Amino acid sequence: MEHHRRKFLKTLGVGAMGAFASPTQIWAKTTADLQQTLGLFDTEDTSEAYWGNVKSQFPFAEGLTYFNNGSLGGCPKAIRQATHEFRDTLDDFPSKYMWGGWNEEKETVRKKTASLFSVSPEEIALIHNTTEGMNLIARSLELQKGDEVILADHEHSSAVSPWKVWQESKGIQLVRPTLPMLPESADEIVEVYKKSITVRTKVISICHLVNTNGMILPVKQISKMAHEKGILVAVDGAQAAGMFTFDLEDLGCDFYTVSAHKWLFSPKGVGIFYAREESQKHLKPLIVARGYKDSSIRRLENYNTRNLPEVLGFGAALDYRETIGGKKIEARIYELKEYFRNALETHPKLILKTPKQDSLSGGIQVVEVLGKDVQDVKDRLFDEYGMDCRPMSTFGLNGVRLSFAIFNTKKDIDRLVVALDTIANS
Ligand SMILES: Cc1ncc(COP(=O)(O)O)c(C=O)c1O
Repeated sequence: MEHHRRKFLKTLGVGAMGAFASPTQIWAKTTADLQQTLGLFDTEDTSEAYWGNVKSQFPFAEGLTYFNNGSLGGCPKAIRQATHEFRDTLDDFPSKYMWGGWNEEKETVRKKTASLFSVSPEEIALIHNTTEGMNLIARSLELQKGDEVILADHEHSSAVSPWKVWQESKGIQLVRPTLPMLPESADEIVEVYKKSITVRTKVISICHLVNTNGMILPVKQISKMAHEKGILVAVDGAQAAGMFTFDLEDLGCDFYTVSAHKWLFSPKGVGIFYAREESQKHLKPLIVARGYKDSSIRRLENYNTRNLPEVLGFGAALDYRETIGGKKIEARIYELKEYFRNALETHPKLILKTPKQDSLSGGIQVVEVLGKDVQDVKDRLFDEYGMDCRPMSTFGLNGVRLSFAIFNTKKDIDRLVVALDTIANS
């Protein structure tokens, strides 16, 4: 009998040692490889050589210098490799892994995600992206005709469209205040929200870091003010999570939604949805399937067949981040920001359109090249220098949006500044 079983397993490719590497083994291998490559045990090392090593782990297309992490994030080799292995494992035995074989591992990813934000795993759902999270919130809430939702002018279409479709069409009022473009302080922004609140306000939907000019909005202060008036706070964290560190409990919002494929090195199509325990009662799943009666937050991610290899790949990405260190990543991004801004400070034709203070901006900076059309600047950066960025023409910005991530080095920024200067003077 045992002989037959062994023979059967052999034909399946599962020998005594187990030919399928378990996710835990793959995660451990990814971390070990990384530590070896970077000498990461030396957590004190913040030299350019160290970051050059990090850069070498992000194999972008030949000749491309990527300043567009805000549009979609870079993913290091090790995470791609781990994700490929998860895809192979699944395709080697599809039914096993899709239908329960990876339950425990998925819970491990949930725990790792929860620990990133210092919250309970019971407050984290693993979804696809920020757009889904914003839809989930806007579709769930039982608002009444005349109720108001505050949604400032810089909000992303992935937040605005769900409120328009699921709530405005029911007669709910969307209040759209104008934010200052270059606020001097967080209080200036808080004041805008304060003035927009009325007795009918039920929700403030707010971006943590706006995708237009990279301004950070004071979510903590606004959540506190909102909760004092019984208003729910929903946050679009697509550009903030991973760029800098924060604790969701401390931030105080009710809901927070993230695209892990921007600043968290994840394979594409993995999102995070946080709902504070006491606010979960407001939520209904966007998609219902078997298991919809689950009373836990898992009911919000119950898609039946789904992208599990990417979810486990995201687990590897979280290990990657942990290995380097969230604070170290944040410090590096702010170092690059400062390096870039200092280089431009006195340039007469390169005008920064992003607030300067670290509390008000981070790794996304917008620059206008005076006298030039932004689309031309974007095209020239790419055609002549192989640099990718995002053109921003809304709000009169006429500027290129440049994202600085851990795979960008000071040398990249030196080349960028020369390129911008050349374009400005030609
Ligand atoms: C602020 C903000 N919110 C939402 C999104 C949408 O992200 P996703 O396509 O991953 O849902 C983006 C994408 O650029 C964004 O910048």
